[in-house]
Order: sequence, then C-alpha cells, then structure tokens
Amino acid sequence: MPEAKALRIEVGCGKGKFTAESASAEPEVLFIAMERVQEALVMAMEKAIDAELQNVFYIDADVANILELFAPDEADLLYINFCDPWTRKKAAKRRLTHHGFLEKYKTVLKQGGQIYFKTDNAPLFDFSLQEFESCHMALANVTRDLHANGPVGIMTGYEEKFYAMGTPICRLEATVGVKENPFGTQDEQARDGALAHPELTENA
Ligand SMILES: C[S@@+](CC[C@H](N)C(=O)[O-])C[C@H]1O[C@@H](n2cnc3c(N)ncnc32)[C@H](O)[C@@H]1O
Repeated sequence: MPEAKALRIEVGCGKGKFTAESASAEPEVLFIAMERVQEALVMAMEKAIDAELQNVFYIDADVANILELFAPDEADLLYINFCDPWTRKKAAKRRLTHHGFLEKYKTVLKQGGQIYFKTDNAPLFDFSLQEFESCHMALANVTRDLHANGPVGIMTGYEEKFYAMGTPICRLEATVGVKENPFGTQDEQARDGALAHPELTENA
C-alpha cells in the first residue's frame, strides 16, 4: 500500500475489534496487526473480510520477533491494547511494555513516532510508566480513567467488557525522541571515511 499516509502496528490484537474499526475509520492509513494465537487471529481476519477492508494486514507472529518483520524507522504509531499483565514478578520480561519490548518498538518507529497504550490493570500501568520513562520516551495524555466522562475513542474487545463492569481504563501516549544514527552524523561519516581511505581525500 505505497500510497498509505501512515503505517500503524497493533501488537496482540486478539480478536481484532479495535483493528477492524480503526482501519475502517481511516482507510488511507495502513494497519498491521500482530497476534500469536491463531484462533484469535482468524476471527480478527474474518472481521476485516466482512467489512471489506483493504488497508489492514495480519501477522501470525510473536511480538518478540518484531525486528525481523519491520525495518527501522518504518512505523508511525504502535498500539498496545490490554496486554497480558503477567502478574508474577519473575514473568515481568513477558509484559509487552517491558523495556526489552519498548526498545524494539523504538527501533521500528520513526523519530517522533508514538505508542498508544491502554490497560485496565493499574499495577501494570504503574510498571509501564516506569518502563517508558527508563526508555526516555516522553509521556503525554496520561489518564487513569479514560472514560470518566463517557466513552472515548474506539474500544477494544477487552475494553468493552471492562467498561461495562465499571473498571477504570488507564491510557498513555509515549513519543520516540531524537534517534541516534548508529553510523554517526553525516560529518562524522565523512571524517571516518577520510581516515579509512586517505587516498580519496583531496589533500592526500
Ligand atoms: C488480553 S488480550 C487483549 C486483546 C485485544 N488487544 C483487546 O484489547 O481486546 C492480549 C492478546 O495479546 C496476545 N499476545 C500476548 N503476548 C503476545 C506476543 N508476545 N506476541 C503476539 N501476541 C501476543 C494474546 O494472544 C492475546 O490475544
């Protein structure tokens, strides 16, 4: 979809309610949803087929492998919706907001790219706030009760259930700051090239 005005990724899309409704609302944006449980993914794909969506694709994969699937700086926005809280401390590394995952998302996202995170789980939200900060991501629109004044935005399948039970929904937006070029600035590259190949410089 080369004409897409933006590329957005959703990690752990589940049965894909949010994916399909988001793709339907913004047909000029390309959505790619990742999910490792095939039964859920099939249901997500059926929703897209039923709605005749042309701007959404699905990847049957573990999010841990995201760097094998996207190029650096490729995505504009990444959604993490109601990821599993993995409540035991020993399992913290499996949370999709653990800094191990956040660093991978940062690689795939452009400078200025964003992560939108929603959860019903307050301890997971507290943990995640620290993780985003440890990864030097600027936080904005942080709320612990997104729907306090009535429903806001497109709800996920899990979100609908929690909202019906009266559970407050936490949400934040995190932004990728200045990205360092691993090869250095253009000036540094020119200098390093001159040192490595003095015969190529004018004064050699
Ligand atoms: C609690 S459900 C939430 C589903 C959906 N986002 C929603 O809000 O309704 C979490 C989903 O993330 C998926 N998931 C968890 N860890 C994952 C991983 N490492 N890679 C891909 N999917 C993952 C699970 O299979 C599950 O479908």
